[in-house]
Amino acid sequence: MENFTASAPGKVILFGEHFVVYGEPAIAVALDLRVEATAYRCEKSIVEGLRTPLVERAIEEALRFVNRSGEAVCVRLRSNLPISVGLGSSAATAVAVIASITGLFGVKPSRDRLFRMALEVEKTVHVNPSGIDPAISVNGGAILYRRGWGIEPIKLGGDFTLVIGNTGVPRSTGAMVEKVRLFAENHPRVRDRLRAAASSIASEALEALEKGDVEKLGRLMDVNHGLLEAIGVSSLELERLVYAARRAGALGAKLTGAGGGGCMVALVAGKRVEAVVEAIRKAGGEPMVAPISRVGVLYGNG
Ligand code: PMV
Repeated sequence: MENFTASAPGKVILFGEHFVVYGEPAIAVALDLRVEATAYRCEKSIVEGLRTPLVERAIEEALRFVNRSGEAVCVRLRSNLPISVGLGSSAATAVAVIASITGLFGVKPSRDRLFRMALEVEKTVHVNPSGIDPAISVNGGAILYRRGWGIEPIKLGGDFTLVIGNTGVPRSTGAMVEKVRLFAENHPRVRDRLRAAASSIASEALEALEKGDVEKLGRLMDVNHGLLEAIGVSSLELERLVYAARRAGALGAKLTGAGGGGCMVALVAGKRVEAVVEAIRKAGGEPMVAPISRVGVLYGNG
């Protein structure tokens, strides 16, 4: 049976989540945890593995791109990326599904086109996505992203490890983005100051990342976490993990993604990794040493 497999990575946002929705720059890194989609011709469309409205939208979007709207196509999904915890599983799913179907029909959209299709699909799950998740999933590596402007690839310097801590608390990106929208509406002057601070943090972080100044990077992550706490997207569970990681010697720690639950990320120098992993576990989180991926979307027959 003719089939085509494609995969796309998840991500962790190091700087600028939420503020990126309002046009400020943000920095994300791709994880070597991927969603893999295999598309094949069939009589009646079926999705195996993961069933979300997002997959159906991704199928529609891909079929339209290859001028096959309304035809049947089946997709089998596999993932080693935890779902709905702020690690970009929905964008990775959208990118992998679209790439597998276009690949099945012998077409490879440009990265920009693939990004735009996945962004349309993401609107199914939350109304106002900034686009950072599909951007990093398509491109891989590390990027500076700005809404409506695009990406700048970042060359990572310095020796550090990212340790993720999952609170296990479910959350909804759409609900958290809405919470921030209400805050912004009610406090326009505070909002403007916080936005300006988030923007400065992201540009200083970009310099620090490229220079490999890990001490500075860690400090900036702590400050970024403070801003996220200020706009109301942290939680007791996230704070517990953030403080546990810092106390165990992390250079910096912050929540990552939409917040309200989900994951935090700590920047750790080599010799402290085990201590931070243990501290997160003891504080009730599920720790994971984050494998960074240079590779974004990957086309290939499985
Ligand atoms: O869905 P998450 O948890 O990866 O969050 C995405 C980042 C936000 O800035 C909160 C939303 C967005 O669209 O950029």
